[in-house]
Amino acid sequence: MKVLITETEIQAAIKQLAAQVDADYRGRPLTVVGVLTGSVILLADLIRGINLPLRVGLLQASSYRGESTTSGRLEINPDYTPDIADRDVLLLDDILDTGKTLEQLIRRVESLQPRRVRTAVLLWKRERTTVDITPDYFGFEIPNEFVVGYGLDYDDQYRNLPYIAALEPADLPESDTT
Ligand code: XMP
Repeated sequence: MKVLITETEIQAAIKQLAAQVDADYRGRPLTVVGVLTGSVILLADLIRGINLPLRVGLLQASSYRGESTTSGRLEINPDYTPDIADRDVLLLDDILDTGKTLEQLIRRVESLQPRRVRTAVLLWKRERTTVDITPDYFGFEIPNEFVVGYGLDYDDQYRNLPYIAALEPADLPESDTT
């Protein structure tokens, strides 16, 4: 595994993101909505750096199991999102890749009638993004490599790594995973 972003670099970037959020909202109430499961570590670190009246929500997003799977449609469960009507929302995800996930999540959050939705991601694979979305806040631009750590997984492993690493062929199981 090749470390791309160290723990120190991540923590410094999150401090900066939190300071930017503080400055932009200037004391106004904010609801931070994290996307399960990849954003949980980022969520925990980011909100502790934000000094605003703050609520926290979660959105569960999973690939739609039906004929539309290939279209990338998501099942989105907003049961853990508090009432966001007329509130400022910061939608938080681990990574913006093609952007199809975030596009659908934004649409879903907007259907709940918030005052305004902004987006934040830790990582942005800008060269792969095909939708017309620019995150309002992002930590790092990364190249087109599959990354794990700091919430991001491969087969539900590695989320606990405090750094971001790119998987190498030796990290992948030869045939099946056990
Ligand atoms: P899209 O392409 O819709 O993808 O922007 C967003 C979701 O796909 C997952 N994803 C990754 N997960 N390492 C991961 O562990 C990666 O390099 C990676 N790229 C995309 C992730 O769940 C994200 O929310």
